[in-house]
Amino acid sequence: MDRSDHVLPWNLLPDSAEVGPDGQLLVGGCDLTDLAEEFGTPLFVYDEDHLRARCREAVGAFGDGVAYATKAFLCRAMARLAHEEGMHLDVASGGELHVALSAGVPAERIVLHGNNKSDAELIQARQAGVGRIVVDSFDELDRLERLHRADGLVPDVLLRITPGVEAHTHEFVMTGQDDSKFGFGLTVGDAARAVERARQSPAVNLVGLHAHIGSQVFVAGFFEQAIEVLAPFVNQSGLPELSIGGGIGVAYVEGETSPSISEWGAVVRRACHTAGITARVSAEPGRSIAAVAGVTVYRVGTIKEVPGIRTFVACDGGFIDNPRPALYGSGYETFVPRAVAAPRTETVRLVGKHCESGDVLVAEARVPEGLAVGDLIATPVTGAYGRSMGSNYNLLPRPAVVFVSGGRARLVIRRETNEDLLATDVG
Ligand SMILES: Cc1ncc(COP(=O)(O)O)c(C=O)c1O
Repeated sequence: MDRSDHVLPWNLLPDSAEVGPDGQLLVGGCDLTDLAEEFGTPLFVYDEDHLRARCREAVGAFGDGVAYATKAFLCRAMARLAHEEGMHLDVASGGELHVALSAGVPAERIVLHGNNKSDAELIQARQAGVGRIVVDSFDELDRLERLHRADGLVPDVLLRITPGVEAHTHEFVMTGQDDSKFGFGLTVGDAARAVERARQSPAVNLVGLHAHIGSQVFVAGFFEQAIEVLAPFVNQSGLPELSIGGGIGVAYVEGETSPSISEWGAVVRRACHTAGITARVSAEPGRSIAAVAGVTVYRVGTIKEVPGIRTFVACDGGFIDNPRPALYGSGYETFVPRAVAAPRTETVRLVGKHCESGDVLVAEARVPEGLAVGDLIATPVTGAYGRSMGSNYNLLPRPAVVFVSGGRARLVIRRETNEDLLATDVG
């Protein structure tokens, strides 16, 4: 098909995507139209085999210790899946820790992050026996010492270092620069002071260093740059572990490309080798595991044509199930599940049902001719930082999530109900 027809680029769909006999999209052998009938819309559909393949790829690329960053997408099924495929889990709050533990993931395979961990979170993690706590600040070291005086527990910790490297990504997800709320700055000398302090502290067992330069980073070279900057410090510390965090980007729209997890791992390993780093190197991918595995299916409810300006297509979801366009101006593609390979010759604006003009899912959404009220419309590459960053704005119940594989769908998060909205309302 001619590219000028703007057929949906196939690389944006999950591994198992195929065109069914009537031109419809099948994922994991399941017809999205049938899934929408059975589970309702909006619906998150994840290709389970795709998730498993990416987890295995990460373990292959980085070896034992590589952790799935659960902030990208977490529920118990996802936690179990990542654990079964050999990954550790990176959690960034007591809530993520609770879900991971309740999924049966052994505490020693969990890494706790956070720039402002509460006493309660530190107690929860230390008592559970998490494998690593990534210490982010001197205040956190104070807190750990205070807690240690009360219970004597000594967790294994990494120190989060801010290397002063600016990865070119959206400023909200750029974390390696000096001017950051995260970690101990290398250039200002905090990193050296933190290593000294942690070494002398009875409250922690310092085993390594950590640096996360940002998310949705397309150029693996930024990781090389970070490793080059960190190497003298890492080597001088003599600590046995280094985590380079997550961050490798994924393609969201036509024309984008990104390194695979294996390519990213090879770049990181090579850079560490060149820099003489002998510490065991690991990583924490989130987006690159989950993003392309997921698609979101909506139903079109209202179509409004503004003559000479544009056509608004309103669906039954919105920026509560995918806040990335509103937060970062992120682009997405659209397709119609009944005709996934059809030329997308028309451009509309896909919006949600919330009370804000900023409730835009896809500003320039390509759709095939004849899109009508009642049709399904879907956005690919929504498996990461979609539902996990969602909210209940306008008290819309949050969507269900299904995992599909081998022609079968299993519900892993049920759709919220109006009763769920009252579950915490004690007034
Ligand atoms: C400390 C840390 N590790 C890992 C990740 C995962 O990053 P990504 O999903 O881009 O791979 C993040 C994301 O913000 C993070 O803050």
